[in-house]
Amino acid sequence: MLKPVKILTKNYDTPDSHKLQVYQSSGGYEAARKALGMTRDQVVDEVKKANLRGRGGAGFPMGVKWGFMPKDGDKPSYLVINADEGEPGTFKDRTLMERDPHRIIEGCIIGCYGVGAHTAYIYVRHELHLSKERLWGAIHEARAQGFLGPKPFGVDYPVDVFVHTGAGAYICGEETALLESLEGSRGEPRLRPPFPAQRGAFGCPTTVNNLESIASCPTILEMGGEQFSKLSSLHKFGDGGCRLYGVSGHVNKPGVYEACIGVTLRELIYDLGGGMPEGTNLLGVIPGGSSCPIIRPDDIVDAPDPKSILHEWHGKPQLDVPIGVDTMRNLGTMAGTTCAIVLSDRACPVLAMHNLARFYRHESCGQCTPCREGTGWMLRILDKIVQGKGSIEELDMLHEIASNIMGNTICAFGEGASMPMLGFLRKFRKEIEDYIRTGGSSSTGRLAL
Ligand SMILES: Cc1cc2nc3c(=O)[nH]c(=O)nc-3n(C[C@H](O)[C@H](O)[C@H](O)COP(=O)(O)O)c2cc1C
Repeated sequence: MLKPVKILTKNYDTPDSHKLQVYQSSGGYEAARKALGMTRDQVVDEVKKANLRGRGGAGFPMGVKWGFMPKDGDKPSYLVINADEGEPGTFKDRTLMERDPHRIIEGCIIGCYGVGAHTAYIYVRHELHLSKERLWGAIHEARAQGFLGPKPFGVDYPVDVFVHTGAGAYICGEETALLESLEGSRGEPRLRPPFPAQRGAFGCPTTVNNLESIASCPTILEMGGEQFSKLSSLHKFGDGGCRLYGVSGHVNKPGVYEACIGVTLRELIYDLGGGMPEGTNLLGVIPGGSSCPIIRPDDIVDAPDPKSILHEWHGKPQLDVPIGVDTMRNLGTMAGTTCAIVLSDRACPVLAMHNLARFYRHESCGQCTPCREGTGWMLRILDKIVQGKGSIEELDMLHEIASNIMGNTICAFGEGASMPMLGFLRKFRKEIEDYIRTGGSSSTGRLAL
């Protein structure tokens, strides 16, 4: 049975884990001290060797992103930490903010040095009061100690960190909408290019990283990038380290667990998540936040080509494939935030789709027509279906609308809204048709999620 590891979460269970004294007694701030004694290129190299794929959902290699930042220029550079965490089913970053905020501040010092910035902003959604309180508390303690300020650890490289409160819109997690919001404007995504590394916050070069990505930096510097990468059984695919996994929905032990990359969905559900409630079976699992297409327990890996990265799992259930950025992509879904939503056979696929469609309709910022109109149209079709007034032909229309949103919007919200719909249509077509034919009575008593 797979056991969780305690690397990023090593302080979680210590009383007062949010205090500087506790953090320092477990070696805290030594990695930042070490980083500031290295050259900037050396720090970026360690992060490249770590093969850390961004923990915010897109899975872009963090070291490569840092390498895009200019070495010289007449404008200041910024580091922006994305702690918006609005993806349904995702609640991992919050645990870091509440239980180990100094890890984040130390990560910001390393990150600022690595990308050539002197200021970091942590963008936190408004509802997370304890997270904000803990982050500010850690910033004040680090400033008082001189770890933040004009000369961290006596080195002439000023660094400061600020918490910026968002207003709780999912779109503000999208990095360019976040930058707009940080500047005080309405949170609407920007066209790219220019990318944030060229023109980000306040028109200056900026790196946006997920909070867990940044919180992993002290460990990378402490153990060395290569060692960190090798914690993962997928490091040969450029997917290194350990990370936080969430599991919620119909499991006995929902929560956040840390594990080395290589964990399978089956292990996440049954070993870490404590398995399904008694008397229920697995209907499907959404691997990494609500935007990821669902996987069914009877989905089998089809990878006869020896060149496919999935070949070694050919013929096996998809649930037994290690959750990685590229493995999940090759299965037609995503690792996303690795926070899985588990549906038992007490859940109804139509009601689950309806629930998701309501969320995406509500959160579309409305800037791009295909997304603004398409999310509303998808919801209206699903409204009709759940009221028992839908028709099977409309499922083809639903498919067409979702397909037409994909690739036709400024940001990836469009994909996030469409992919789960297409996934449910592909995997549960028969159940959805039965629902329509019986006016919903095939699903009587079943749940939305
Ligand atoms: C609609 C939408 C919402 C997003 N929400 C978040 C979020 O809450 N937190 C996050 O870190 N990334 C989120 N992202 C991804 C960010 O745009 C960006 O890729 C990420 O912050 C980069 O950090 P990373 O490379 O360290 O993962 C979102 C993307 C989209 C399209």
